[in-house]
Amino acid sequence: MTRSERVARAFSAAAGTYEAAAQAQDRVAARLARLVLDGGLPAAPRVLEIGCGTGLLTRRLLASIAGGDWLVTDIAPAMLEAARAAVSDPRPVWRVMDGERPCCAPGSRDLAVSSLAAQWFEDLPRALAAQAACLAPGGLLALSLPGAGSFEEWRRAHAALSLPCGLPDFPGGAALAACFPQGGALFLATESFTVSHADGRAFVRSLKALGASLPRPGHTPLSPARFRGLLATLSGPFAVTYAIHYALWRKEAA
Ligand SMILES: C[S@@+](CC[C@H](N)C(=O)[O-])C[C@H]1O[C@@H](n2cnc3c(N)ncnc32)[C@H](O)[C@@H]1O
Repeated sequence: MTRSERVARAFSAAAGTYEAAAQAQDRVAARLARLVLDGGLPAAPRVLEIGCGTGLLTRRLLASIAGGDWLVTDIAPAMLEAARAAVSDPRPVWRVMDGERPCCAPGSRDLAVSSLAAQWFEDLPRALAAQAACLAPGGLLALSLPGAGSFEEWRRAHAALSLPCGLPDFPGGAALAACFPQGGALFLATESFTVSHADGRAFVRSLKALGASLPRPGHTPLSPARFRGLLATLSGPFAVTYAIHYALWRKEAA
């Protein structure tokens, strides 16, 4: 099974539990939607959403943008189905699609947007270049993703026991900026907030409910005994940091 098939399978399995666990994701979708709307879009924009999940961002954007041509996509079929079921608006065309390889004609979209999906891409610079190619001149590529410092408490708990951690290396601002292609102007903002869990076990359960428990490629999962030992060090209230990047890249006008 390829990495993207594993990502799709993990998120599809979580389609029924995602929204109940997605307070942080909803907050991020709200902020990204606000930034996109404030950033300015043409009337009746041609929108491509990548990694729509159950539609937290989709619903916000549909409610705030009149008309348009909407292609709403996700790599996980059950996530896409959950989003479709939650949206009564007839405008979206729904499609299972790998956002790293968008099936859109070059220059055909005014907005390509994704919230908390890009951290799952195998090759972020290549994916952003492919998404940017879908944009018309002056089009907007907008995304949110976790940055350096995200889930640092989980990483530190592993380090304290000299255990390998399955989290990916989330990028700092400069590293993320370097992932964008030439030919556009980037606005980048970062916000940090914490989400509290009853204990480490509750944090792990929430990741599973979100479909976000797939470790970075090459990570060997801890043995059950080591995992229990890790959780034993996190038996009290456990707050985790989300350090979220919001990136808006405007393609040069022709
Ligand atoms: C954390 S969820 C975010 C969902 C939604 N955007 C939100 O804000 O609630 C990540 C979503 O990205 C999707 N995803 C991951 N990799 C993807 C890829 N390569 N192409 C498209 N979707 C992808 C997952 O299937 C999942 O639905």
